[in-house]
Amino acid sequence: MKIEKVKIFDTTLRDGEQAPGAALDAQGKLEIAHQLARLGVDIIEAGFPVSSPEDFRSVNLVAREVKGPVICGLSRCVKKDIDAVKDALSVTENRRIHVFIATSPIHMEYKLKKRPDEVLEIAVDAIKYARRFFDDIQFSPEDASRSEPEFLYRIIEAVIDAGATTINIPDTVGYAVPEQFAALIKGIFDNVANIEKAVISVHCHNDLGLAVANSLAAVKAGARQIECTVNGIGERAGNAAMEELVMAMRVRKDYFGVDTSIDSREIMRASRLVSRLTGFVVAPNKAIVGKNAFRHESGIHQDGVLKFRQTYEIMSPEDVGLDKNELVLGKHSGRHALVDRLKRLGFNLSEEEVSKVFEEFKRLADKKKEVFDEDLVALVESTMRVDVEKWQLVGIEVNIPRQDGNPRATVVLSYGGKEFSASSEGDGPVDACYKAVDKITKCPGKLLNYNIQAITSGKDALGEASITVDFGQDRVINSHGSSTDIVEASVRAYVNAVNKLNREGGK
Ligand code: KIV
Ligand code: ZN
Repeated sequence: MKIEKVKIFDTTLRDGEQAPGAALDAQGKLEIAHQLARLGVDIIEAGFPVSSPEDFRSVNLVAREVKGPVICGLSRCVKKDIDAVKDALSVTENRRIHVFIATSPIHMEYKLKKRPDEVLEIAVDAIKYARRFFDDIQFSPEDASRSEPEFLYRIIEAVIDAGATTINIPDTVGYAVPEQFAALIKGIFDNVANIEKAVISVHCHNDLGLAVANSLAAVKAGARQIECTVNGIGERAGNAAMEELVMAMRVRKDYFGVDTSIDSREIMRASRLVSRLTGFVVAPNKAIVGKNAFRHESGIHQDGVLKFRQTYEIMSPEDVGLDKNELVLGKHSGRHALVDRLKRLGFNLSEEEVSKVFEEFKRLADKKKEVFDEDLVALVESTMRVDVEKWQLVGIEVNIPRQDGNPRATVVLSYGGKEFSASSEGDGPVDACYKAVDKITKCPGKLLNYNIQAITSGKDALGEASITVDFGQDRVINSHGSSTDIVEASVRAYVNAVNKLNREGGK
């Protein structure tokens, strides 16, 4: 069987970052882009340069620093958008522009207020203009799955004639179902005269939970590029999850007859990194990267796996980067073992940074017998975030009355080398601490979501608080914090949210 290649177009940094509360800063985007390069994605959509100076800066930074994948920027069919992509990507030859315009009757009539012929002309003019600066041009007819097929064929043929080299078919609102979506792709192959001059790509949203299924159906119908995000993050219910697509095509190569260039052993690291930087917790039952994805609980299953692994495992944990044989670090572990493990977790730290982390590691190892990878990730994150231009947690004191009355907390934070303290009562210890933090930072937020979970096992496990905070005026921030003390983990998460808000101005 001939195995064809499907390109992976990763849009974690663009559509993924559009998820409410994701708010990645330029440094975080760069870190993710480096990991995407290690994964071996073919194209990285680094952002939408015209949308904000911050987005422009991060697309430019990724284009300058990240080698390997093609770096892409998004653009409407507008000259100033195309110019912004051109300028942001001027630092690399390995670049692509992604131009889009809506083609469904509902979008053309109500959003664009344009007739189909006008939309076609605008699209062709934009591609011709982009062609002056780019050889690699992708065009997306937005809301394609709700567009009239005849109009789609017409506009696709016209933009290919104008210079588009990839045609991306978005299921913008997650409306498609697999058979229908596959038929749409087939229709494009059968009805667009010059289709052999372009690669067909798909971009599926997950509103009905069908993003991965629709993308795979499209591959079966001939699509050779898939747009996706790590952990499936993105607008509303998100995009097709990269790790699920990649493993589906690999494990079921016999059925799909395709594969990707992804180094699947980097998947877990990418998933953890994106979760950590966006603050979006991965559900335990999430396919491929969830905590339970490779755990066998039932006795019958455990027995089967011990006798012959493939009885209940269609892929091995090592295939996605979970190394079961790694030694657990503890208080007798040395600096060398720590550095080695940090490297495997994707952290390349300077000598000075390693010294700081090692000191904190020894402190944690004194409290906990075993220090797991998740502990280390949390530890590096909190240690490396020592930045004077940020709020830092110095200490907490909580008093819980034995009988009636509310808990009272005193919180001490530092900023720019100065310490600030405030006290408050609250419904519970966490609420009291949050109110005290509000008094200090003067950035009161409303807690929309609060979730606490043990990230390792045992009584001395590190607890991780994941929260979503609404700071008003549409500024919703996701963040997390960890500690062996869950009240402290909760306060760390809240202080991180305030810092994220100050850095990003919120989303
Ligand atoms: O969902 C969508 O239609 C998009 C386009 C910009 C491709 O994100
Ligand atoms: Zn999208």
